[in-house]
Amino acid sequence: MDHSHRPDIRNTIFVEDAKIIQHIAYEGDQFFLKLAAPKTAKTALPGSFVHLQCDDMLPMRRPMSIMRVNAKKGEIDILYKKHGYGTALLAKRKEGESLSVMGPIGQPFKLQNYRKRPLLIGGGVGLPPMVFLAEHIKSTKENVSPFVIMGSEVPFPFLVKPSQIMIGGMPDGVIATMPLMEDWNIACRLTSLQGYAGCHEGYVTDLARHWLDAMTEEQRSEVEIFTCGPTPMLKAVKSLAAEYELPCQVSLEEYMACAVGGCAGCVVEIETENGPAMKRVCVDGPIFDASTVVFR
Ligand SMILES: Cc1cc2nc3c(=O)[nH]c(=O)nc-3n(C[C@H](O)[C@H](O)[C@H](O)COP(=O)(O)OP(=O)(O)OC[C@H]3O[C@@H](n4cnc5c(N)ncnc54)[C@H](O)[C@@H]3O)c2cc1C
Ligand code: FES
Repeated sequence: MDHSHRPDIRNTIFVEDAKIIQHIAYEGDQFFLKLAAPKTAKTALPGSFVHLQCDDMLPMRRPMSIMRVNAKKGEIDILYKKHGYGTALLAKRKEGESLSVMGPIGQPFKLQNYRKRPLLIGGGVGLPPMVFLAEHIKSTKENVSPFVIMGSEVPFPFLVKPSQIMIGGMPDGVIATMPLMEDWNIACRLTSLQGYAGCHEGYVTDLARHWLDAMTEEQRSEVEIFTCGPTPMLKAVKSLAAEYELPCQVSLEEYMACAVGGCAGCVVEIETENGPAMKRVCVDGPIFDASTVVFR
């Protein structure tokens, strides 16, 4: 597709026929998808997403965050939950088949001079951008100690394990982590209201509060929040950030038709210097400064 006439795209979004390398089903209608999509893999950044043609019979694509990239191998990983018609069709796709991918799309997280204690909070299908961001921080920054909190109300789509990494402020017994984070030596804890072993029984924001309250004022001033998840969670994280006076970047999700800025189907209200404005989640976002997002 030629987007050269669109100033906001500048030929950085590709359409490629990706091969499905792996497609694995997990409990709770969750699926892991590994695609050979070399053009997308080469330029994707944490916060980028793809627009997938779930099935040849379904012209309208569906947006999905990129969870991991392997630029050398030309692969991208996606984690998705079966939600409605499009994702149900996607769930039927087989390894070896080809899938049309448009990507990478969107403004990534702003990572210039971010603070040295990033707090990454992901909920439900908002986990993937947090994994991408954690891996990026790990591979690009020394002296930065991220803490990742993941929440889910269905079983986590990985084999939860106890962490060996000590984290200040954690309630007794809150030891469960994502194995990838442990491999990367990144502090991580899991939350759920479902009483899963080793997870904090409560909201992601409760656990964040435990962590923040255990810090000195100076340590707290080094925290910056990054978050993605369901809207009620994002609202709560925005309030938490405001309460502790911390910068916070949110990744928003909206229904999308074109995903390249043309249809205005994905607009949200954002406070700007010139007052409220309608911004497109696909090309102006999906990442926004939390303090500017008007949640309805
Ligand atoms: C940036 C971004 C990243 C995302 N990342 C992930 C992820 O990593 N994992 C994940 O599981 N989910 C993710 N989602 C959510 C995912 O895109 C939806 O769950 C998926 O689109 C649902 O499609 P469906 O057909 O299964 O659901 P349905 O509810 O059946 O269909 C949703 C569809 O409704 C139609 N529609 C409804 N209202 C409108 C409108 N106003 N304009 C245009 N079309 C409309 C569109 O066809 C739309 O795609 C992300 C969404 C966004 C925006
Ligand atoms: S989906 Fe068309 S402008 Fe964003």
